[in-house]
Amino acid sequence: MLTHPPEAAGNGQTRRQFLKQSTTAVGGAGLTWALTPGLLAQSSGANDRVVFALIGCGTMGRENMRHFLRLNQPVAAVCDVDATHLEAAAAEVVQAGQPAPKQFKDFRQVLAQKDIDAVIIGTPDHWHALIFIAACEAGKDIYCEKPISHNLVEAKAMLAAARHFRRVVQIGTWQRSMKHFQDAIAFVRSGTLGTINLCRAWMCFYRPDIGRQTPQTPPPGLDWDFWLGPSPVRPYQPNRCHENWRWFYETGGSLMTDWGVHMIDIVLLAMQESDPTFVVAAGGKLATHDDRNTPDTLDVTYRFPKWLLTWEHRFNNTRGLDGGRDHGAEFIGDHGSFIVDRVGYHFYPYPPDYPGPPAVAWAESTHWQNFLDCVKSRNPPHSDIESMAKTTMVCHLGNIAFQSGKVVEWDAGKQDVARPHEVQHCLCYERPYRKPWHLKHYS
Ligand SMILES: NC(=O)c1ccc[n+]([C@@H]2O[C@H](COP(=O)([O-])OP(=O)(O)OC[C@H]3O[C@@H](n4cnc5c(N)ncnc54)[C@H](O)[C@@H]3O)[C@@H](O)[C@H]2O)c1
Repeated sequence: MLTHPPEAAGNGQTRRQFLKQSTTAVGGAGLTWALTPGLLAQSSGANDRVVFALIGCGTMGRENMRHFLRLNQPVAAVCDVDATHLEAAAAEVVQAGQPAPKQFKDFRQVLAQKDIDAVIIGTPDHWHALIFIAACEAGKDIYCEKPISHNLVEAKAMLAAARHFRRVVQIGTWQRSMKHFQDAIAFVRSGTLGTINLCRAWMCFYRPDIGRQTPQTPPPGLDWDFWLGPSPVRPYQPNRCHENWRWFYETGGSLMTDWGVHMIDIVLLAMQESDPTFVVAAGGKLATHDDRNTPDTLDVTYRFPKWLLTWEHRFNNTRGLDGGRDHGAEFIGDHGSFIVDRVGYHFYPYPPDYPGPPAVAWAESTHWQNFLDCVKSRNPPHSDIESMAKTTMVCHLGNIAFQSGKVVEWDAGKQDVARPHEVQHCLCYERPYRKPWHLKHYS
């Protein structure tokens, strides 16, 4: 059972006073992605319709599309290298009462459509950067799934392209648009916890083993070579393809990037700092007996100048930290421990009567409406590319530390690892591209 904090805001403050102080207290400090009034603002209720195309019609791509359909936005095109997913997405558009969308296999044809204002990128991670940069070049605004990139070098290239072409970009870290996460961030920033020395973020994930499989003929309608795209040729196996790609370094980054980018993001946002000094990691395949080549158990420690962050992920059961939260972010300070997850937040005060945050006001995420508002206003959305590139790079650093087995020092000035030559062999730092695909760099 999850418990919620006391009803009243600490020190007799109203919630509004508390938030006002919290937001003004942090102005200018640390990250530029401070908790601005924009982050707290309600949706402007923009009525202008944005014409969408969905690229990558799997689980999350279609989920995002449904949000935009519910917000009455036209979806004029859908694109997938698997005809089954493509047809299912097209059918959903028609079921929503809209005209049948155009169907494409090749995203380049989608980007050539002049009537498309914005694309949803819902492909596996190994495709994000190439499609994203091409969408910037084509002048589209972008709702791109997290983690923004397959590796660290790509994150920098995507940020540069979005800046160069001045695109409005929302990344799929949708808890940034949930009121209780915004309140939790404001509470941490208020200083009520005193000095915070240690933050923790975690995901304890139980899913069936993906098994050991032998190469198979791809199902009809799936263009496996196109699915692989820039990544190395591998024989088709279902346990490498839909949804399972995240457990292979060639195509994903395991829970370190899959969920780290959600929960570490909240820590960085609340602590207003995203440049660790160094990172160490240990882990392995300790719980699963299948084909994956990423660790099912991983502990990463990030040393920031004045505090530590630990990331933990594991597959062997779902008993998370705090007696049952399978995911979360925790802030440990002089005056207690404060934990937030997608369900709510909880404060363990020290001393026991120390005043806590306002009561949890749980509400659905407004992430998709926020993107529509920002396409209209041209303001940065809640999960803008600037800050999400930083969060994603921090997550990649955890994988780089694990893959390299080194203490990875971070050069904040260069926004790069201090000695790239030591980690260039790690796929989560950078990777070769299978022809004809290559990464473009803009400045
Ligand atoms: N924000 C969230 O809460 C959340 C949740 C789940 C997944 N995700 C993210 O969403 C993305 C997709 O994950 P998923 O679990 O839906 O994967 P999935 O495997 O279910 O779907 C990916 C789809 O992309 C298609 N695809 C592959 N290459 C393509 C290409 N070149 N062009 C067009 N389509 C292509 C695949 O055929 C498949 O239909 C990932 O980046 C993942 O991290 C985010």
